[in-house]
Amino acid sequence: MSTAKATNPLREGLLSRSAPEPCSLVIFGATGDLTHRKLVPALYNLAADGALPPSISVVGFARREKTDEQFRTELEEAARKFSRQKINDDLWANFSGGIYYHRSEFTNLEGYESLARRLDELDAQRGTRGNRLFYLSAGPDQFPVILENLRKSGLNQAREGSWSRVIVEKPFGIDLPSAIALNDMVEGSFAERDTFRIDHYLGKETAQNIMVLRFANAIFEQVWNARYLHHVQITASEPLGVEGRAGYYDKSGAMRDMVQNHLLQLLCLTAMEPPTDLTADAIRDEKVKVLRSLRPLTGPDVARHVVRARYAAGSVNGKDVVGYLDEANIPADSQTETYVALEAHIDNWRWAGVPFFIRVGKRLPKAATEIALHFKSVPPVLFAQTGDAIDDNVLVIRIQPDEGVSLRMSAKLPGSALRIEPVKMDFHYGTSFGKATPEAYERLLLDAMAGDATLFARRDEVEQAWKFVDAIRAAWDSGEGGPVVSYAAGTWGPDEADALVQASGATWRRL
Ligand code: BG6
Repeated sequence: MSTAKATNPLREGLLSRSAPEPCSLVIFGATGDLTHRKLVPALYNLAADGALPPSISVVGFARREKTDEQFRTELEEAARKFSRQKINDDLWANFSGGIYYHRSEFTNLEGYESLARRLDELDAQRGTRGNRLFYLSAGPDQFPVILENLRKSGLNQAREGSWSRVIVEKPFGIDLPSAIALNDMVEGSFAERDTFRIDHYLGKETAQNIMVLRFANAIFEQVWNARYLHHVQITASEPLGVEGRAGYYDKSGAMRDMVQNHLLQLLCLTAMEPPTDLTADAIRDEKVKVLRSLRPLTGPDVARHVVRARYAAGSVNGKDVVGYLDEANIPADSQTETYVALEAHIDNWRWAGVPFFIRVGKRLPKAATEIALHFKSVPPVLFAQTGDAIDDNVLVIRIQPDEGVSLRMSAKLPGSALRIEPVKMDFHYGTSFGKATPEAYERLLLDAMAGDATLFARRDEVEQAWKFVDAIRAAWDSGEGGPVVSYAAGTWGPDEADALVQASGATWRRL
């Protein structure tokens, strides 16, 4: 029996494919890496797929002297390098005709006033209807002045029948007090419904599929709890090092850079209760409940349940690489971690007693992000005489690459003897749907243009995540949290991380 289609107009959110509306997208920090690597390639791909609103202007706002033409040429080079679809010359010419450059200091109010005039002109020329989407992709220390000047110039105020929204890139603060201060500041210029805090992991197809896997399949949700699961492993491993981001990364480290946002978001999607409907707030209400149920890790518990480490020299993919402390612009006395493994517990009925192991690191052997649900063992009867160890079932959600889901189970090896072997049932997006997965930024930009905040972090989520992370960092700072240990680049992390999971009778998956 199939379920009748829900037609309740209030149940929108993920369901709604409300069309993105004509608008001007203003990127602050337009000459930076993100614009080149992600934003413009994402916009181009949307244009190529015919998904952009009928009228759109993209205005780069930055300090360097540059003409529109120079800016377009620079972006074209980047798009040719980073776009997932090959650049078509005609399409690029058409798309880039809507790209402009606005030179100004972030601190100069006049630059915003002239921006306002320019946007009005573009509205008249291109039919962008007074809708404004401001993307804060400059350094976070610039956010306050940009927000203040948007307010002073009135650009934050939408005119009748139009909208004015802001997208805020991470890092969203460096701890709870700074996140609160930033949130207050954003709130001073934009309402929460017009604020879109980016966590690009939420825009990944596979992250969105977690809810579908759980709540659109009768078999999984029944066993998605402490009764059947032994533990959960969430891994994000990268072969990359700091890649010229030493200034940012050394102040951040893996805990702030990845755990506070991406990894905790994946944990929320894995652990949350079914939302009442698919609206942005219903989903975010459930996620924030998970964060509120996280058992705080404080004081000496941090030394027991959290491992922080830094890569030493080694070899990744056959290439020798230097250790973190020998990377350019990293201070010799840096205490910054490039790897974190931790054991989290969610103190609620569903998850009581199930450890969630999180591991994230740079300079690991391969790029892979996945969530693995490890089921409890079957009772050691019946097949004990075969002498074969029976592997536990593992349901793996591959977030990237090779996006998909697999289930490890036991099967009888063909033949007259009773032998048991593990086998895998495997679903691959690539082969099942035969089309390329869009980049996270494509989905997120479209959603912001459509005013759908479902895949963006809400204020309370961000603050709650910082609470959890700050307690751990406080223990590190006080010395109670244990030292920074070391792992050779190109390995799966330090021995201490193995010991962490072994204490619960688990081992890390080799990806
Ligand atoms: C970013 C971090 O948010 O995510 C980077 O700042 C990290 O350090 C990146 O490399 C990973 O994103 P993805 O999509 O490549 O997994």
